[in-house]
Amino acid sequence: MENKIKLAIFACGRGSNLETIINNCNNNVINATVDLVISYKEDAKAVQIARIKGIETIVIKRENFESRELFDTELSKYIDLHQIDLICLAGYFQLLTPMFVQKYKNRIMNIHPSLLPAFPGFKMIKNCLKYGVKFTGCTVHFVDDDADSGPIIEQAVVPIYDFDTEESLGARISQEEHIIYSRAIQLYALNLLNIEERKVIRKIL
Ligand code: GRF
Repeated sequence: MENKIKLAIFACGRGSNLETIINNCNNNVINATVDLVISYKEDAKAVQIARIKGIETIVIKRENFESRELFDTELSKYIDLHQIDLICLAGYFQLLTPMFVQKYKNRIMNIHPSLLPAFPGFKMIKNCLKYGVKFTGCTVHFVDDDADSGPIIEQAVVPIYDFDTEESLGARISQEEHIIYSRAIQLYALNLLNIEERKVIRKIL
């Protein structure tokens, strides 16, 4: 496919979303190339996967920078150098500075393992089980200045069963994440997302 957009993935965890996105780009399921992976964790599985897949992978350690602003300025140098169109957070457990978010407004996506705005932050799977909710899921959204609060692009619902553990529920949510994250990126790549006020309007049914 022509006119592929360029992605950067920020990942510091086990890398299952990163791996799916790379595979779907390679298989032309997503009209994009993964040009850059950035992590702040050298030993993250995501880093290992990205390197095996032959993607340029940079580890930038937070402790080498005096402030979050200086850290994010360093990130943005790489984003600009590679002329990245869209940044995908996939297990990036650190808030981006307002300066960075403004600079790449509506060009940063995140995946979160709950049906936002319910259960933002951390420990959402544990809390879903604790509160006894019967359905949860996952959300892909654009990133704004607050945590897990930007315009929602895609969601998938996952039922919670009485016998669920954090592991079993987490695994089912993860499967859905892989589907909706690729779909959201493809909608962006095909220019099918409009943001009006705080809402994302998808130019498809
Ligand atoms: C996912 O659950 C995602 O929703 C959250 O971090 C986790 C990353 O998992 N933001 P993986 O590293 O992609 O496997």
